[in-house]
Amino acid sequence: MSGYDKKIAKKYNQDEQAVLFHGSCLDLMRDIPDKSIQLIVTSPPYNIGKEYEKKLKLETYIAQQAEVIKECSRVLSETGSICWQVGNYVNNGAIIPLDTILFPIFHELNLIMRNRIIWHFEHGLHCSRRFSGRFETVIWFTRNRKDYVFNLDPVRVPQKYPGKKYFKGPKAGQYSCNPLGKNPGDVWDIPNVKSNHVEKTDHPCQFPVELIERLVLSMTNEGNRVLDPFLGTGTTIIAAIRHNRRGIGAETEARYVDIARNRIQKAIDGTLPTRPMNKPKYDPKLYNNKLTIPPWKNGQVEPEQLLIFEKQGVFNSEDS
Ligand SMILES: C[S@@+](CC[C@H](N)C(=O)[O-])C[C@H]1O[C@@H](n2cnc3c(N)ncnc32)[C@H](O)[C@@H]1O
Repeated sequence: MSGYDKKIAKKYNQDEQAVLFHGSCLDLMRDIPDKSIQLIVTSPPYNIGKEYEKKLKLETYIAQQAEVIKECSRVLSETGSICWQVGNYVNNGAIIPLDTILFPIFHELNLIMRNRIIWHFEHGLHCSRRFSGRFETVIWFTRNRKDYVFNLDPVRVPQKYPGKKYFKGPKAGQYSCNPLGKNPGDVWDIPNVKSNHVEKTDHPCQFPVELIERLVLSMTNEGNRVLDPFLGTGTTIIAAIRHNRRGIGAETEARYVDIARNRIQKAIDGTLPTRPMNKPKYDPKLYNNKLTIPPWKNGQVEPEQLLIFEKQGVFNSEDS
């Protein structure tokens, strides 16, 4: 990290490499000049009664989000991007996809939607009265219609058939794929941070560093500022400083600020363990994991087994 001050600042200052503000994002953003942030990426509270939030009336929640998004739009640079990572709001069993109700706020601020990225993962609650939720979205907006930063090369992923060649025309016989890899597309299969994930902390909804690294690398250049208004455990700052960008974030809960400070310091020192970007997902069958062998006979679940499952709450009717 040559050329950067390695301390973690507590208040905003444009020269700092890492700013971890303990307090509300609106208070932090008040000190940030207009059009000075290249990327704003966050996962706001979903208003589902997690331990760090009070469940609000939906209209109140939307109004609060609108205030923060408006302030984000003010600090966003001309070539910058906003990525809002959300799941569902759940009310009495009915789900409301948060991106659909937040979209009009961005639209009215003349921000331009570039992608609605589906982030698919495999672990979460098992539902019994609907299909279990296994994706959330990242909605990506830019300030400008034509002039915005988008670097594809640093985030390309391996080609499926790198050996494929043109079979006719002037390029016949030459390799047809980009040797740097292919565009990762808008469906991202990235493990979520659950108990056996190397990045897991006590926070209930961390996002994985690799998810944010892909956004940072594609939507910013070195030295740019990346802001997360709802920082949690510091993931966005970690992804930013790891790639020589500046990271800024606010978090209201002291216990998460402590976790964030600890993780950011380790990231600065180069000792924070993270799941590497583009590492293939663990395939238990490939590794002959014994747990992949069904313990019941003839593929049928024995009635006793079902009882055990029910007692353990393997099948439950959770709504979130
Ligand atoms: C979904 S979590 C974000 C987790 C984060 N993406 C991570 O990787 O750790 C939302 C966080 O926003 C914090 N929060 C809620 N209201 C806030 C506010 N007004 N300003 C700053 N942080 C806030 C909560 O305490 C919570 O930690």
